[in-house]
Amino acid sequence: CDRLENEKNVVLVGYMGSGKSTVSKVLARKLSYEKLDTDSLIEETYETSISDIFASKSEAAFRDMETRQLEVLCGEKHDGLVLATGGGLPLREINRRLLSKLGKVVYLKASAEAVYDRIKGDTTRPLLQVDDPKAKIGQMLEERGKYYEMAADIVIDTDGKSPEAVADEIIKAM
Ligand code: S3P
Repeated sequence: CDRLENEKNVVLVGYMGSGKSTVSKVLARKLSYEKLDTDSLIEETYETSISDIFASKSEAAFRDMETRQLEVLCGEKHDGLVLATGGGLPLREINRRLLSKLGKVVYLKASAEAVYDRIKGDTTRPLLQVDDPKAKIGQMLEERGKYYEMAADIVIDTDGKSPEAVADEIIKAM
């Protein structure tokens, strides 16, 4: 796919619980764009849940599915797309390259505290089913921050902001 052709598309990256899904909905509504989400596309394609893929296959198998999903999206024509992505997707260099071709990449930056508040009690994220999710979130944010930054054209601080406000900020920054 071609970066120039996809200039108006928006790709949201960031850690779990940074608000990608919610913001993508608001943004798609405001821009009258189509909204897609790599996690949901993978669940539809393989007719199973992310938790099940991690449990019955492996995280590596899931990462391969993410790359494959981006390749499929790149092969399609999308005129006005908001794409929300899985929190680990920008870690792979090939994925960052594909993302940059799919559209403007926006990193929704969130603090460990804000993330924890949003995801506590959630059982659908296999990587956070640990004894001390708070510590795990802090550690993963530390490790992943540079990859989100590398992937991003635009960085938005989301702490204390409503999804509406974040969406407006993205539109302004585009
Ligand atoms: C993951 C994030 C999840 C999902 C999977 C792995 C990660 O997506 O892709 O559980 O590695 O951060 P969300 O960011 O939408 O929760």
